[in-house]
Amino acid sequence: MYFEIEPKGRKKDFFNYDYEYGQVKKALQRKEKIIAVVGVRRVGKTSLLNLVYNETASLKLWLDGRIVTDPKKEIFAAIYETAKAGKPKIFGKIESLNLSAFGVGLDIKLGSESQLEIEKKIRGSGHICVFIDEAQRMGTSDLADVLSYIYDRFPQVSFIISGSEIGLVEEILGEGDGEHPLFGREIVKVAIPRLDRNRAMDYLKKGFTQLKFDVGEKELNEAIDELDGLMGWLTLYGYEKGVKKSKDALGKTSQGAAQIAASELVHFFRKTKNRKLYLSILRNVNGTGWEELRSHAGKDFGKRLNPNLFTFALGRLASHSFVEKRDEKYYLSDPLLAKAVFLV
Ligand SMILES: Nc1ncnc2c1ncn2[C@@H]1O[C@H](COP(=O)(O)OP(=O)(O)OP(=O)(O)O)[C@@H](O)[C@H]1O
Ligand SMILES: [Mg+2]
Repeated sequence: MYFEIEPKGRKKDFFNYDYEYGQVKKALQRKEKIIAVVGVRRVGKTSLLNLVYNETASLKLWLDGRIVTDPKKEIFAAIYETAKAGKPKIFGKIESLNLSAFGVGLDIKLGSESQLEIEKKIRGSGHICVFIDEAQRMGTSDLADVLSYIYDRFPQVSFIISGSEIGLVEEILGEGDGEHPLFGREIVKVAIPRLDRNRAMDYLKKGFTQLKFDVGEKELNEAIDELDGLMGWLTLYGYEKGVKKSKDALGKTSQGAAQIAASELVHFFRKTKNRKLYLSILRNVNGTGWEELRSHAGKDFGKRLNPNLFTFALGRLASHSFVEKRDEKYYLSDPLLAKAVFLV
């Protein structure tokens, strides 16, 4: 069934994205060592990883990047624990829509075994697949170090990492940066795009048909206008309407979605000094060019803004996937952010 909130874990519940799914599966069959699944929030990264995780027959582990506090120690320890147990292990949760956990720590420690024993155990375990969801939530440079260390020393370990904060995932992978720890190593990158309008319509129609629930074309169009082609919001709407049978399902969905988006902004603002500037940009971004955005922000501040400072702020919003750049214009990556900025 399409309209379930949990991350999808079976191919029959997973709509579209055959190409992306195939790319990940083939890369794993080739035993590629680093496979990165990237896409803005709510496009379905956790579901894709979960599906592949379920279908993986070799030894495997799942790490929720939001709860790893010390990647250098914890990732290695988690791999070792799994090798020792000889069966799959999930550290943290496999969860949709970023609903919880902003970093509480995994707290796995290595025992008293020597480094040599540990390495021997890992090497003797055959192909090990390490799934890391929301990888960018760990320290990016620490994670890059761990990946490069394991890449070089354990050829039979594959990492499948996902991230919504695209700039930060790129920081982990170090594209084009000769000084980066992963420079020169093979990385398979799989980008998940949002659905276009036709596919979003197809998804909603098929989902409601599964529930034998009839919804008029006009409302479906309104839903897509409001929620865009983001799997997460479309699913939430289908659930609200077809499973919970709420009145005003679209209103409730966009309210709930805006609150989730707002909580991510609040999290982002904790590490940000100039909150007013970021909010000004987010309020004005709507297919807007750089100069025009700066001039809007200047009005909000009552003075012209330093271009470097402004570019820096816009770049951070893009790197955290709140804002996207297409053809020299900036857009909100998620239409619900326009509501979320009034909730923070
Ligand atoms: N291909 C798909 N087919 C059907 N439902 C999907 C698909 N992808 C995602 N969903 C649904 O959309 C919601 C969000 O999916 P998921 O958690 O996988 O996205 P995400 O990109 O990891 O989101 P976040 O950025 O919040 O972590 C879930 O309810 C999930 O069941
Ligand atoms: Mg996710």
